[in-house]
Amino acid sequence: MKTPTTMSTLTFILFVIFACSWEAFAHKHEDFLECLSHGFENSNNSISNVVYTPKNSSYSSILRFSTRNLRFISESTPKPLVIITPTHELQVLPVIRCAKENDVQIRTRSGGHDYEGLSYVSQVRFVVLDLINLDEISVDAEQKVAWVGSGANIGSLYYRIAEKSPTLGFPAGLCPTIGTGGHFSGGGEGTLMRKYGLSADNVIDARIMDVNGRILDRKSMGEDLFWAIRGGGGASFGVILAWKVQLVDVPERVTVFTIQKTLEQNATQLVHRWQYIAHKFDKNLFLRIILDRVPYNNSQDGRNITISAKFNSLFLGGVDQLVPLMQESFPELGLVREDCTEMSWIQSVLYFEGAPINTPEMLLNKTKTNIRYFRGKSDYVQTPIPEYGLEGIWDFFYEAGAEQGALVLNPYGGRMAEISESTIPFPHRVGNLYNIQHLVFWREENVQRSDMYASWIRRVYDYMTPYVSSSPRAAHINYRDLDIGVNNNEGKISYADASIWGIKYFKNNFDRLVQVKTKVDPGNFFRYEQSIPTLHKGN
Ligand SMILES: Cc1cc2nc3c(=O)[nH]c(=O)nc-3n(C[C@H](O)[C@H](O)[C@H](O)COP(=O)(O)OP(=O)(O)OC[C@H]3O[C@@H](n4cnc5c(N)ncnc54)[C@H](O)[C@@H]3O)c2cc1C
Ligand SMILES: *[C@@H]1O[C@H](CO)[C@@H](O)[C@H](O)[C@H]1NC(C)=O
Ligand SMILES: *[C@@H]1O[C@H](CO)[C@@H](O)[C@H](O)[C@H]1NC(C)=O
Ligand SMILES: *[C@@H]1O[C@H](CO)[C@@H](O)[C@H](O)[C@H]1NC(C)=O
Ligand SMILES: *[C@@H]1O[C@H](CO)[C@@H](O)[C@H](O)[C@H]1NC(C)=O
Ligand SMILES: *[C@@H]1O[C@H](CO)[C@@H](O)[C@H](O)[C@H]1NC(C)=O
Ligand SMILES: *[C@@H]1O[C@H](CO)[C@@H](O)[C@H](O)[C@H]1NC(C)=O
Repeated sequence: MKTPTTMSTLTFILFVIFACSWEAFAHKHEDFLECLSHGFENSNNSISNVVYTPKNSSYSSILRFSTRNLRFISESTPKPLVIITPTHELQVLPVIRCAKENDVQIRTRSGGHDYEGLSYVSQVRFVVLDLINLDEISVDAEQKVAWVGSGANIGSLYYRIAEKSPTLGFPAGLCPTIGTGGHFSGGGEGTLMRKYGLSADNVIDARIMDVNGRILDRKSMGEDLFWAIRGGGGASFGVILAWKVQLVDVPERVTVFTIQKTLEQNATQLVHRWQYIAHKFDKNLFLRIILDRVPYNNSQDGRNITISAKFNSLFLGGVDQLVPLMQESFPELGLVREDCTEMSWIQSVLYFEGAPINTPEMLLNKTKTNIRYFRGKSDYVQTPIPEYGLEGIWDFFYEAGAEQGALVLNPYGGRMAEISESTIPFPHRVGNLYNIQHLVFWREENVQRSDMYASWIRRVYDYMTPYVSSSPRAAHINYRDLDIGVNNNEGKISYADASIWGIKYFKNNFDRLVQVKTKVDPGNFFRYEQSIPTLHKGN
């Protein structure tokens, strides 16, 4: 883990490098633009429509639009030389070529949800390739497949599927503004995962532009590269342009419920019990838990905060099936018909977003409201945490830094446990009871306060050590965390450095990712803070 001292030394060194090379820096920017303007000569769309330099009045709003974490929106956040928003796949070609020629790095952004802002922030000279306009979706309900541009958000995909058929869906995340480019290339977990696995498990073809500017599909890229981009993170291998996905069957009516229990209502015992059963439930039942703190009005002991566990569920079936199923498998929760609501699958998507269920058009809207500062971390639990272990977590929630802290527990098992660890790079399969996302949000821009939140989540993470996976302490790449290790991005990326975070994300698949990377991008052009390294002799 980085210590505050090494962090500030690094920042200082970077500052010196930037300050001294400012002229060269400006020069590169001109060269890059000059190169790009030639690259666009044969394009239908002139460069002026898709290239934003800091001089353009829209530069800031384009940069901000897909920024989902206020931590990376301040004046001091390093900014791209240029933002390019292609409207056609072929316009990606000059961006790659000119970046290579001018030694500028590319940060590819689809939905911008990266927890560490890696799709639009870097300490090195970089441009942002923003795929927001490559968002075409075509659904073939008869064949049960769809092609989706990597700049499309998952909400739009859900909407376009439901528009064609009320009994088709797709397994992906809960937040509709997530981009398919980052999400599918890192996994993609959500309410359908216990029945159908991850988004990446249901990708059947893709289009990628490689380092040589070739557009490859599954057949021409070969099975190694196709394997790598389904869970290995896309940005190490090229620019993913589009995905072909297998749609899945959903019933016409599904059932949702949310039951909140506080400590006074035996939340501890219920969460404890849930750990033994949620991964073994019927595959049609997804029951996650959100833990946070809520005001408590008990004048007797003067305590004004308690812990809340929200049991939040999607069942692929009707309430008549669900109630007896829950009575059999989790009677302690006390679910009754009145807690449940039947609706269509697309309405359940809105329900999980906390939106009114009769406004499906809002899924097409890429504007994200209520953006906050946040940090996240992830863990895997393989043995149930004892009650005293849970009580230790509650203690953290009484602290000042936990005002908007939360732990989200996503149950695995079902289809997730049937797919082998090496089918795709995402390795967290059988043996994992559930995934934990540690989250902390805040609203005020204040360095001291933000240090308090960072410290809170790091201490929670430390506390969890004896209760979660070890050797490696596994993590999920889609819940990106730079605390678990970063590449030295300026020089050659060493295998040893990268394997520290790489084995946590990918376990034994890390080595195969390194081999694929070495084959498809031997010059390591597509590199970033957590990119897969190439293998050189002697490493
Ligand atoms: C509010 C919120 C809710 C979330 N909910 C869920 C959830 O329910 N389930 C879940 O699994 N995850 C969830 N996530 C995490 C999310 O899956 C990841 O952040 C994911 O990587 C986001 O994809 P993106 O395209 O929006 O992100 P981006 O920030 O655009 O990209 C993420 C990474 O992928 C790279 N990349 C993006 N597009 C491409 C491309 N076309 N080609 C090559 N590389 C590319 C980027 O360079 C970057 O490294 C959530 C995140 C947030 C902020
Ligand atoms: C230019 O437009 C034509 C017709 O609209 C289209 O077929 C072609 O693919 C476009 N080419 C580029 C480079 O955008
Ligand atoms: C950026 O500004 C230049 C100069 O004002 C203008 O020609 C160009 O069209 C602008 N680009 C975009 C994408 O708006
Ligand atoms: C909590 O559990 C105890 C012991 O099992 C039980 O007696 C009590 O009724 C429960 N309380 C609630 C609110 O369910
Ligand atoms: C709880 O009490 C503390 C101290 O009296 C106070 O600062 C805080 O705002 C209260 N919190 C809530 C949720 O009421
Ligand atoms: C405490 O009271 C507030 C305000 O009346 C209410 O919003 C909140 O839900 C109550 N909390 C609990 C745990 O009952
Ligand atoms: C998208 O959502 C934003 C924020 O809620 C709203 O301001 C905007 O008008 C919406 N756009 C469309 C096209 O509905």
